[in-house]
Amino acid sequence: MKAIVNTKYGPPEVLQLKEVEKPTPKTNEVLIKIHATTVNRTDCGFRKPEYIIVRLISGIFKPKKTILGSELAGQIEAIGKDVKTFKPGDQVFGLSTYNFGTHAEYICVTEHSSIAPKPANISYNQAAAICDGAFLAMAYIRKIDFSKKPKILINGASGSIGTAGVQLAKYFGAEITAVCSTKNIELVKSLGADKVIDYTKEDFTKNGQQYDVIFDSVGKSSYFKCKKIMKPNAIYFSSELGYLWQNIFLSLFTPIFGGKKVLFPIPKDTKEDIVFFKELIEAGKYRAVIDRTYSLEQMVEATKYVETGEKTGNVVITL
Ligand SMILES: NC(=O)c1ccc[n+]([C@@H]2O[C@H](COP(=O)([O-])OP(=O)(O)OC[C@H]3O[C@@H](n4cnc5c(N)ncnc54)[C@H](OP(=O)(O)O)[C@@H]3O)[C@@H](O)[C@H]2O)c1
Repeated sequence: MKAIVNTKYGPPEVLQLKEVEKPTPKTNEVLIKIHATTVNRTDCGFRKPEYIIVRLISGIFKPKKTILGSELAGQIEAIGKDVKTFKPGDQVFGLSTYNFGTHAEYICVTEHSSIAPKPANISYNQAAAICDGAFLAMAYIRKIDFSKKPKILINGASGSIGTAGVQLAKYFGAEITAVCSTKNIELVKSLGADKVIDYTKEDFTKNGQQYDVIFDSVGKSSYFKCKKIMKPNAIYFSSELGYLWQNIFLSLFTPIFGGKKVLFPIPKDTKEDIVFFKELIEAGKYRAVIDRTYSLEQMVEATKYVETGEKTGNVVITL
């Protein structure tokens, strides 16, 4: 089968299209023919690698996992003898977050991994672009008390995590102020933002508004810059570690003292989340935002685009 293989860390050019052995499902696995996947910031972070912690997880000198890609949409081609919940021909979508391997024509995953039947009302391309941003955003959304319609500011609302965060916060009942650039204002309004601030024209920390939650989904701000716009018991989240990994340290200490705090949840993908996203999509309450679509052969080009940090929503790879 065709796959994008990286046997060493480095720039996008380390990603090479190769013929590799097609996997065979073990007794508890399904073999999925992948019709669409994505390139996301996690793929880029593990390829470079961006942080030393990636080398600890993925191999000190060279990557142990040589096929990246964490999102998939495709069709089950074969199943192991113990598989009960899927059958050949089923259309599925989901995540292979920490195992990667979706930048390939086929993948084997266990039946209990983070896959679910593809929503009937969307294409493979749309389905592939759902789960990464949504499961990352869910890690933050779960920490929010929605019982009193919190006022949430989402910075980077046009990115993969941001577009998911706006839609999920809207679904759970928040009042949302989204921050994005001029070209994405109408998009984030259509996803559910109540107010939009154009960061090219206005500094969102200087308009006198106060929030229950600040969710910096692109890690472009900081707790110290945002503290003055946080209500007394407000939460600050960032998807990035921040300068000198400050968000990790702040998340250890600020909750002890009460009042304003930083939380840094570690995202974990689950089948329950994927099933929940499926139900939201089928109810018309969630959609994937797709910026560009590339072929597997165009992986280097697609990756370079993702690394500009300027994509809107998601970048899909069609197989
Ligand atoms: N915590 C985790 O486990 C985890 C996992 C994966 C990724 N991440 C990190 O999370 C961050 C977001 O990931 P993502 O995939 O959502 O990113 P993304 O899709 O690449 O974000 C791109 C978006 O950010 C917007 N943006 C750029 N500069 C901005 C600024 N100064 N203010 C507001 N918006 C700005 C861009 O809009 P314009 O083009 O309009 O500027 C673009 O739409 C990344 O830094 C990534 O490394 C964290």
